[in-house]
Amino acid sequence: MGLINFAIDFGNGYVKAKSDKGSFVIPSKIGYADNIGSTSLGDSLDSETLDIHYYARKDEPTYVAGSDIEKAINPSQLVNTNSANNRYKMVAFKQLVDFSLAELSSYEDSKNIEVRLITGMPSNDIYMKERKEAFERFLLGTHVVERDGDEWVINVKELKIIEQPLGTLLNVYLNDEMRVHKDLQEGTIVVIDFGSGTTIVDIYKNMKRIGGDTLNEGMIKFYKDIAFQASNEYSDKIDSEYIEAGIKNKDFIAKFGEKAYDFKDFYKSMIFKKVQSVVGIYENEIGRESLVNGFLVTGGGSTFIGDDLIKQKGNFKVVDRPQTSTVEGYFKLAKSLGKGE
Ligand SMILES: Nc1ncnc2c1ncn2[C@@H]1O[C@H](COP(=O)(O)OP(=O)(O)OP(=O)(O)O)[C@@H](O)[C@H]1O
Ligand SMILES: [Mg+2]
Repeated sequence: MGLINFAIDFGNGYVKAKSDKGSFVIPSKIGYADNIGSTSLGDSLDSETLDIHYYARKDEPTYVAGSDIEKAINPSQLVNTNSANNRYKMVAFKQLVDFSLAELSSYEDSKNIEVRLITGMPSNDIYMKERKEAFERFLLGTHVVERDGDEWVINVKELKIIEQPLGTLLNVYLNDEMRVHKDLQEGTIVVIDFGSGTTIVDIYKNMKRIGGDTLNEGMIKFYKDIAFQASNEYSDKIDSEYIEAGIKNKDFIAKFGEKAYDFKDFYKSMIFKKVQSVVGIYENEIGRESLVNGFLVTGGGSTFIGDDLIKQKGNFKVVDRPQTSTVEGYFKLAKSLGKGE
């Protein structure tokens, strides 16, 4: 029997994962079972109805993750798995990897499976040999994970780690027959990825990265900076999660309890600065624009920053479903590698 194809994008903000059986987008955060019910809603929330699951790895306490994790556990008690340093050695990151593998496995019939895994790293991390090797060592081989009391044995037999933005490029330029479009095969493509913890500007020629830069600042910092300015203006503590919510629902008002603070002006000035800094990196890295065959914008942050970027740089285009475009590309690559099995 062939290997089961898994594609996972371990983002700093969200894990995006996909197999033939299903897909998910879940915050890259974990909590501990003892802290359930620690939100302001307290015990009035029935944890049974929330979308969270319990996981355990050998000799470690049970932990919790899922799309409702922020409702189940007070955000201050959640463990973030993003790190500007070597996240691949952190226990919390390993727990994130193992719950993601168990989650995709839960769609399968067998509890003992062999997989081909395609994933990625930020472009600057992948060139740090120590980081790439630490990640590979951890991913390859057998992962034993308990999920809601059932044990899963997931053997990663085949592994490929690529630059994260290359995932988006494969999604855009691989057709249904898994043939690579000539713009990617023989041309030059620029891609900008507005992620939660990183902002990546990358240039690929003949499918190889030939330049670019990764900033260890992304949307999380963007929301925090606005929260800081609004907190000063209104002399109240405004958490960045309310800023993120106000941007997502497009009213630019931070609402919590009885409070409602308009942060539109701070948002506008921050977006201006963010676009300037990214355009600056781009202009630095790119040689002659006329030689570029494609200009793509991806990552969840591009759902709103994309428009402002395009006002300045009209040749760029936001990809379809930017938050999951990278994982879709990883999945296409997995399928093409498994062709003929
Ligand atoms: N529909 C949407 N509207 C507004 N913002 C969104 C939407 N979808 C995602 N976002 C925002 O996009 C941001 C980045 O999401 P994304 O999943 O691409 O980051 P990531 O891959 O986890 O981070 P990184 O690439 O830095 O590791 C998140 O902060 C999220 O709030
Ligand atoms: Mg990302």
